[in-house]
Amino acid sequence: MPSSVGLVLAALLAVTGVETAGRVEHDYYKYHPMPEIDSWMVQTAEAHPDVVAIVEYGQTYEKRVIRLLKVGLNTGAKKKAVWMDCGIHAREWIAPAFCQYFVRQILNAYRSDAKMHEMMKNMDFYVTPVLNIDGYVFSWKENSTRLWRKNRSPGPSGCDCYGTDLNRNFDAAWGTVGVSSDCCSNVYCGSRAASEPEAQAITYFVGSRAEDFLCFLTIHSYGQMLLVPYGNPNVTASNYAELMEVGLAAADAMKAEHGMHYEVGTSPDILYPNSGSSRDWAHQSGIPLAYTFELRDNGTFGFLLPEDEIRPACEEAYSGALHVITYAHDKAFVPASGAVAGGVAALWTLLLAAGAAATALM
Ligand code: ARG
Ligand code: ZN
Repeated sequence: MPSSVGLVLAALLAVTGVETAGRVEHDYYKYHPMPEIDSWMVQTAEAHPDVVAIVEYGQTYEKRVIRLLKVGLNTGAKKKAVWMDCGIHAREWIAPAFCQYFVRQILNAYRSDAKMHEMMKNMDFYVTPVLNIDGYVFSWKENSTRLWRKNRSPGPSGCDCYGTDLNRNFDAAWGTVGVSSDCCSNVYCGSRAASEPEAQAITYFVGSRAEDFLCFLTIHSYGQMLLVPYGNPNVTASNYAELMEVGLAAADAMKAEHGMHYEVGTSPDILYPNSGSSRDWAHQSGIPLAYTFELRDNGTFGFLLPEDEIRPACEEAYSGALHVITYAHDKAFVPASGAVAGGVAALWTLLLAAGAAATALM
């Protein structure tokens, strides 16, 4: 066949996402049901065996395996880590879409971008595309279940409703504010702290090595906000000023993409008080840079964000996340500019003194 026809065909196949070489091109600007996200994880790991590994770290109530992608360069040295989870709330479909986009971006970036290469040398990125798999699958089932939020464990005896709000179930001031003990409520906090297997999975995996994690990003929608600890209006994070400064700079970076405004603050200050969130649990466990990202939009479509907004939403979220991650990295690995300047000054003093001494000897 003439090569121009071949080229046109190849281009057509590329844009339509038709199978090429036995593999379906993944469309990052569409929402994907769980089986497609699973095969995307496998394909991503297979395509980058040197930097990507699939880690299984828990099971949902319905016995689905909870998996994350561990992305990083194998250095042999002990590394720091970044945490990102998406889809703790089932209906917030833009969140899993972002986790997929995020992995693709860092995998594209590290070959050409020296900074990303350095960060992937010093840190591993642990990305869970869908934490609440049972809920996510349920939200794909039919129109009437599209807005499901919680997981799918049955309520306690005597209560006929399903589901615990996983972001009220963590062991951080559990059950105190912004929750319900009614198992039919959308903010039902469960029967006890970390009663749910999905919350247990994060609690064990991250909690057993919290000192390795430099930042903890948990991705939600909607509202266009970056939330900092704590959900209790009477508790202030020890590094509140740092959290706000970094958050505001991240929001600036997000605005620079498509002009969208993201509010920064604690949940009680800008959304509502809550307890038992994974963000508060992470901060309380010693991870200083813990943020909840509430992605697009501001209420126009809410949880039903149209697919044509996936791309801009992911682009701006990437800029914001990258800002926080770069800050966390540099704080741990790049000597403060003051220290560098001080070191250079000390060196100069030494050289000048040596020069003076040499001159005196001549
Ligand atoms: N993802 C949020 C949560 O964790 C929902 C926020 C939506 N509500 C709003 N007013 N923007 O509860
Ligand atoms: Zn949410």
